[in-house]
Amino acid sequence: MASSTLICDTEQWKDLKSHVEDVKKTHLRELMNDANRCKSMFTEFDGLVLDYSRQSATLETMDKLFKLTHASGLKQKIDRMFNGEHINSTEGRAVLHFSLRAPRDAVIQADGKNVVTDVWQVLDKIKDFSEKIRSGSWVGATGKQLKDVIAVGIGGSFLGPLFVHTALQTDQEAIGFSKGRQLRFLANVDPVDVAKSIAGLNPETTLVVVVSKTFTTAETMLNARTLREWISSSLGLDAIAKHMVAVSTNLKLVKEFGIDPINAFAFWDWVGGRYSVCSAVGVLPLSLQYGFTLVEKFLKGASSVDQHFQSTPFEKNIPVLLGLLSVWNVSFLGYPARAILPYSQALEKFAPHIQQVSMESNGKGVSIDGVPLPFEAGEIDFGEPGTNGQHSFYQLIHQGRVIPCDFIGVVKSQQPVYLQGEVVSNHDELMSNFFAQPDALAYGKTAQQLQQENVPQHLIPHKTFSGNRPSLSILLPSLTAYSIGQLLAIYENRVAVQGFIWDINSFDQWGVELGKSLASQVRKQLNASRKGEPVNGFNFSTTTLLNRYLEASSDVGKDSSTVLPNI
Ligand code: F6P
Repeated sequence: MASSTLICDTEQWKDLKSHVEDVKKTHLRELMNDANRCKSMFTEFDGLVLDYSRQSATLETMDKLFKLTHASGLKQKIDRMFNGEHINSTEGRAVLHFSLRAPRDAVIQADGKNVVTDVWQVLDKIKDFSEKIRSGSWVGATGKQLKDVIAVGIGGSFLGPLFVHTALQTDQEAIGFSKGRQLRFLANVDPVDVAKSIAGLNPETTLVVVVSKTFTTAETMLNARTLREWISSSLGLDAIAKHMVAVSTNLKLVKEFGIDPINAFAFWDWVGGRYSVCSAVGVLPLSLQYGFTLVEKFLKGASSVDQHFQSTPFEKNIPVLLGLLSVWNVSFLGYPARAILPYSQALEKFAPHIQQVSMESNGKGVSIDGVPLPFEAGEIDFGEPGTNGQHSFYQLIHQGRVIPCDFIGVVKSQQPVYLQGEVVSNHDELMSNFFAQPDALAYGKTAQQLQQENVPQHLIPHKTFSGNRPSLSILLPSLTAYSIGQLLAIYENRVAVQGFIWDINSFDQWGVELGKSLASQVRKQLNASRKGEPVNGFNFSTTTLLNRYLEASSDVGKDSSTVLPNI
């Protein structure tokens, strides 16, 4: 495709557009009757199973989607990414987050350098440091062991590590490695979050890890200064060297903050914030909690999927299939949202993490060449673990709007529970729902079926389920550090596929800047107004709200001494 041509102008896109009506004629109930179709919509890799037979797609649709990959140059774009080219053109950067989990002997060149060497230098430093903390050979300023960690960061410097930590927390092997230790996160600049993060902790036994790619994010820096004050007010300023470390690409600002760069763990501008969980951003806090050996298994799981993504033909390539199906659902069938539904409480933070990975990456309005898109790109991602979601928003999914669903199930529970006399084990109960929901969505329930059940006539419209609602199912053998890594890499690479097909830049995020700069204008105004200056330069609405806020909180900062949270 010529760079000035939009993907929607290609014959392959138009062909898919005209194919939509054909597919819409066929209910999923009928599609599910075609055994050959269903069989070819199963694919397996390294213990993972993907079943996409409940997508509103025929084998012809898939064929046309594979043709679209040629039109979009998908293969070449994947290769360019893996070859370290500067595909993030608006920031002039390579996109190499996959190299964060590459084996030590891999060679991934960017700008004439093997980045894997740098990656492993930092991983070795993390291993060494986390072992010192965990073994007690590095202690706090008063000689006590540092058993609690607060990771301060937001967005990509928070969501990925939180997802992995939450998923590991209930795993037997991880429990064994984390005895007596706590890992907490502080993200929101809301002082309530500061209070919650330090509640019950003693600065003497706490290590604070400040995680920020840029080291300029306003929320993170204020939270970091607040925790620095929390430590220094009780242990003195010299204690900071023992109780605060940093993860950043900006080692100059780390030093200016007062953290010795020796205690900083680097990463690089070719790692996007939302793709940074496999860098020190995630690996340091997770290794402090669980030990590096376990975290390495997570990296290996992700690396296994990267290799699959790079080398497997598209017909059997899980991230490619997921990306193509999403493009089909969003751009052709017109379904703007997608629900991520893990039937696993341990994956409760997966959807919030993928929300950022997907929506910050692909929520774009122009092509990579800056041409406004005449079609919608990106998707609205949300989700909750099953079965909680069933008692919340599934009503809308079953009888309201059509929202394609990703069901994620786990064969072997991290916490097997079986009560004597019960019909099934607790995990079987959970999984009964995992297997039932996709069929309920696909098949629905007809008026005729309801009549046969003698449902009163006036209730039939209310009890009818149209069905024909697409979903896909992913089955993991178990939820371990390795499979958590696999899942992460599937979804990260899926997002890249979507962006490559839509021909957008999935690796910049200019859309977050405007709000940040307006907040800085408001911050200046609040500072001036607390000293008596009138509100100036805002529209009527904002001026009125600001005045109301200032009047009602005029006691703030009156006595200029430091106030720390009290919980
Ligand atoms: O929300 C915008 C953003 O830049 C994200 O892309 C990033 O993950 C987050 O802020 C945090 O940035 P940093 O790690 O630089 O503090």
